[in-house]
Amino acid sequence: MALYSEKVMDHFRNPRNLGRIENADGIGEAGNAKCGDIMTIYLKIGSDEAKTIDDVKFETFGCGSAIASSSMATELIKGKPLSDALSLTNKAVAEALDGLPAYKMHCSVLAEEAIKLAVKDYYDKNGIEYDKSQFLHCEGECEHCM
Ligand code: FES
Repeated sequence: MALYSEKVMDHFRNPRNLGRIENADGIGEAGNAKCGDIMTIYLKIGSDEAKTIDDVKFETFGCGSAIASSSMATELIKGKPLSDALSLTNKAVAEALDGLPAYKMHCSVLAEEAIKLAVKDYYDKNGIEYDKSQFLHCEGECEHCM
């Protein structure tokens, strides 16, 4: 079996939603201190009650798995209510990519973290109350990280 699925290769070679959004409503940046990779997520949020994610873009300085994870994660939340971004897990991103090698799972963690931090940034900028515990993010020693 190939190390990377066809979906990983496709999203690495043809990343969706690559770039930045000027005047984004929320920006989240996550990094992995061990590999040095960095991912930034930009969100444009609608004014409807569900706070629909009208647009999302990413910039990733990192490995192929991190780029594929960013691309897939943005596809999974684009056009969805903001609550979907908050409940997105790195496992869901990896599954949507038809899997990542175990030692590359931490790359998908960057996508989950950067999206959550972008939501938090949106809440902070707009004075929206939230449960802070949902944004406690890992210190790099969890099962996903190397
Ligand atoms: Fe650093 Fe993939 S090796 S995110």
